[in-house]
Amino acid sequence: MNDIAKLGALAPQADTQADPHSQADLSAFWMPFTANRQYKAQPRLLARAEGMHYYTPEGRPILDATAGLWCVNAGHCRKPIVEAIAQAAGSLDFAPTFQMGHPAAFELSRRLVALAGKPFSQVFYTNSGSEAVDSALKMAIAYHRARGEGQRTRLIGRERGYNGVGFGGISVGGIAANRKTFSGALLPAVDHLPHTHDLAHNAYTRGQPQWGAHLADELERLITLHDASTIAAVIVEPVAGSTGVLVPPVGYLQKLRELTAKHGILLIFDEVITGFGRIGKPFGFQQLGVVPDLFTVAKGINSGTVPMGAVFAREGIYDTFMQGPEASIEFFHGYTYSAHPLACAASLATLDVYLDEGLLERAGELAGYWEDALHSLKGTRHVIDVRNIGLMGAVELESRAGAVGARAYEAHVKAFFDEGVMIRYTGDIIAMSPPLIVSKAQIDEIVGKLGRVLAAIG
Ligand SMILES: Cc1ncc(COP(=O)(O)O)c(C=O)c1O
Repeated sequence: MNDIAKLGALAPQADTQADPHSQADLSAFWMPFTANRQYKAQPRLLARAEGMHYYTPEGRPILDATAGLWCVNAGHCRKPIVEAIAQAAGSLDFAPTFQMGHPAAFELSRRLVALAGKPFSQVFYTNSGSEAVDSALKMAIAYHRARGEGQRTRLIGRERGYNGVGFGGISVGGIAANRKTFSGALLPAVDHLPHTHDLAHNAYTRGQPQWGAHLADELERLITLHDASTIAAVIVEPVAGSTGVLVPPVGYLQKLRELTAKHGILLIFDEVITGFGRIGKPFGFQQLGVVPDLFTVAKGINSGTVPMGAVFAREGIYDTFMQGPEASIEFFHGYTYSAHPLACAASLATLDVYLDEGLLERAGELAGYWEDALHSLKGTRHVIDVRNIGLMGAVELESRAGAVGARAYEAHVKAFFDEGVMIRYTGDIIAMSPPLIVSKAQIDEIVGKLGRVLAAIG
């Protein structure tokens, strides 16, 4: 017996009859972004999914009000997507995209660029939103260097921004809990815009708030402070999602666009949540009417089925890299699994589902209904704000003294066990983003269940 086989013999044998809820069975998984001990004391297991629902191991349906993790835009286990993945797994399990290629990667790129429309002309693939963000930041710095402005290395992010968990993403991001542990190891040349959340001015806004465009003027101050010649890029989420759905004030993104264009700074939109139909058009920038230079996507790119992310680049950026000897690699960056055949097949099939069923416009069609339903919670116990855009929404609760997040956690657990609905929480904000196939009756069901939960918790 070799050493590894000996270790296997010593390991406890898997018990197929094990109780899926037993705490001992759960200890080996170090869960991401989870209070592990709290979760394992009260596990919430999902065993299967279909359409708008998850099912627990006992078969109890859970209405999915969050599209998994903002990603399952086409609904769960859609047959054409599942079949495309299975077909790809059986015909081309893996193909490198370093110095090689496979047809689906090129076909998907053509289709994605067509969906984004001009001026976007190239797509660079990653395996996650975090990698897409770090790739976009590196692309911005490398672009300026290729243009002879190698001193432009500073990056500007935003307070409360969530741009994934790579060192680039947490450096430009603005969520203190994600940064503080690594504060000595963050990228050095980074500054931040203020966030746009202000309950005194904007509580219960429907869609984009009227107040707050002036917050983009802070960029002018940062440009004066650091000098435009040192700044490579500004990165923001068009709608800040993970921090609790902060909708951009009217005119705010336009101002960022004007200032970045004036000073030769690239504007990057992090569309990992807003991409693929979440706010009413294929991409958030199309709905909000402001065109960035680069934008990142992931999640909805294949409805969450196979890990994949991407960076879209506008015309001229790729061309700037295409200099020097033809035999030299133009951008020393990429991932083993960039444009993985299964992820590409899943994305191609997902695009077909989105287009055949009109899902990329559906959030726009349902936005008014969703808005009215969510705002009916105004006046419900604990609620201090409701906000929404497309099929994104947040209900902010008053925090318990000295226990930020405790009330929303209680709501999340009660919603799961007592009402059979999955909602997300961040601090004391409940965030929702149902799959784009949600019906009006299911919107009523989500809001009705949430209302009962809020009325019941202390
Ligand atoms: C705006 C934004 N950027 C980046 C990410 C990171 O994506 P991933 O978790 O796939 O790395 C997320 C994830 O929620 C996100 O919302």
